[in-house]
Amino acid sequence: MRNEVVNIIGSHILKILKYSDVTPYNLYLDRRKFVEALGLTSLAFVATPIAAKQNYSTRAKANTIEEITNYNNFYEFGTSKTDPAKYAHSLRTNPWEITFEGISQNKKKFDIAEIIKGKAIQERVYRLRCVEGWSMVIPWIGFPLRDLINELEVDNNTKFVAFETVYRPEEMREQKRATLDWPYREGLTIEEALHPLTFIATGLYGKELPNQNGAPFRLVVPWKYGFKSIKSITKISFKKEQPYTTWSSENPREYGFYSNVNPNVDHPRWSQATERVIGEGLFGKRRKTELFNGYIEEVGDLYKGMDLKKYY
Ligand code: MTE
Repeated sequence: MRNEVVNIIGSHILKILKYSDVTPYNLYLDRRKFVEALGLTSLAFVATPIAAKQNYSTRAKANTIEEITNYNNFYEFGTSKTDPAKYAHSLRTNPWEITFEGISQNKKKFDIAEIIKGKAIQERVYRLRCVEGWSMVIPWIGFPLRDLINELEVDNNTKFVAFETVYRPEEMREQKRATLDWPYREGLTIEEALHPLTFIATGLYGKELPNQNGAPFRLVVPWKYGFKSIKSITKISFKKEQPYTTWSSENPREYGFYSNVNPNVDHPRWSQATERVIGEGLFGKRRKTELFNGYIEEVGDLYKGMDLKKYY
């Protein structure tokens, strides 16, 4: 499968593409070509509100598929950046079920094919800024999380949404050790979860999501540090109280619940003012980090009046 790209949109396999069919840079600048490449009728796209939302994608040049899939953080497979590419193939992503808590429907468990079916699949080119001080640009495929939440009968008193990664030590080798308090967990306020930028990625670069990037179902919250974008989700809970989250519990002084990208609030051990852009080389020019990773216009209102130094 290395040279082939399978596009699974919903449960339908639309077309098998070779990488050579998909010239990423042009593809992602030229939507029409992208639509054709996916074998979608343009109607399928016109029928979705995507045109109005194009501005959510950055025009910045996307990183290469090699960079995106070989420099990863996915501690379930090891703590080095190259471990996920080496070991994540052992995770079985099909079939895959997601359990919901805090909804009033009788059915609480869904296969992801059921979840994805009927969703308007979109592409979003987002910057990913890791709390460690590096960044990439990734062309995701998926749908806004709100499209899923709006289909659920969510409990009235919901204030937060909690996410959990699968716990399978037999398939995720680092889970045999107590590197983190497994399973990896993350959370958002319900307002953040419903924000149109908050995305569920099921693919990238027009193909199925590679395991090392969080297959088959991964959260992407582009204005927050990368660790909020939890991978390989198996449980989503709607809660009244702020949920347990892995990194902020591991080290509350260094990692907050909000973790909005903010060049003015340094990590206790390093500055957050600039970032190393993956692909520019170790001695490449550093990029100035932007407040909310450049999405102040879209998300600024969520944090109006909030002390961002206190709620880091
Ligand atoms: N999700 C899980 N389950 N486990 C992890 O270790 N690492 C996070 C986040 N999601 C992580 C995770 C961190 S620190 C970052 S920066 C991003 O995934 C990296 O995403 P990428 O490897 O797709 O670039």
